[in-house]
Amino acid sequence: MLPAYVANCSAALFGGGRSIDGGLVLWDGRRALGDGKTLRGLALGSACGVGVGILQMLMLSTAQETLQHLDVRLPAFGEGLEAGIIVFCLSVGALLGDMAASFFKRRLGLKRGSPLPPIDQLDFVAGAWLLTALVAREWFFEQFTTGVMLAVIIITPVLHVASNVIGYLMGKKQVPW
Ligand code: CTP
Ligand code: MG
Repeated sequence: MLPAYVANCSAALFGGGRSIDGGLVLWDGRRALGDGKTLRGLALGSACGVGVGILQMLMLSTAQETLQHLDVRLPAFGEGLEAGIIVFCLSVGALLGDMAASFFKRRLGLKRGSPLPPIDQLDFVAGAWLLTALVAREWFFEQFTTGVMLAVIIITPVLHVASNVIGYLMGKKQVPW
């Protein structure tokens, strides 16, 4: 999940500037996505997510050796091109999920930054999972068993709220959710 988490956090840290929807207003008189979804957030978020995924791949064999005596098998993204595609899907999928949620929030008439729990906390998880499951179905269901998915669904909102409070205190988030 790390590429998805990092993509989401980095979009908030490094985002800004031109909005993805370019100011587009839809039939309901509201923005398509709003000013909280920017091109820079999408680009740098994707890049950071992929970057962390590549670091994880590079660290895997060392980490596996360190844990040798414990008889645990670390999860992996796979080999070569497939691993790259998976890391890309987890990162970009996270940001697409976040954009989809903003689209629906605007249709509901909710302003940028207004809270919609638990959607705000899990939109990026859903996006990352959906895109990865579509593109790398076999790998996805091998790694994300029901137990793992439940753990992610429980842990993510806690991490999300905690990191957003930090982002808010840093002045990087306008609201602490
Ligand atoms: N961000 C960005 N580009 C993205 C996603 C996020 O620039 N593709 C930045 C924006 O500065 C945004 C912040 O990350 O304000 C936090 O993201 P999020 O909580 O998803 O946006 P909100 O401002 O809460 O807007 P929304 O109501 O649309 O969720
Ligand atoms: Mg939000």
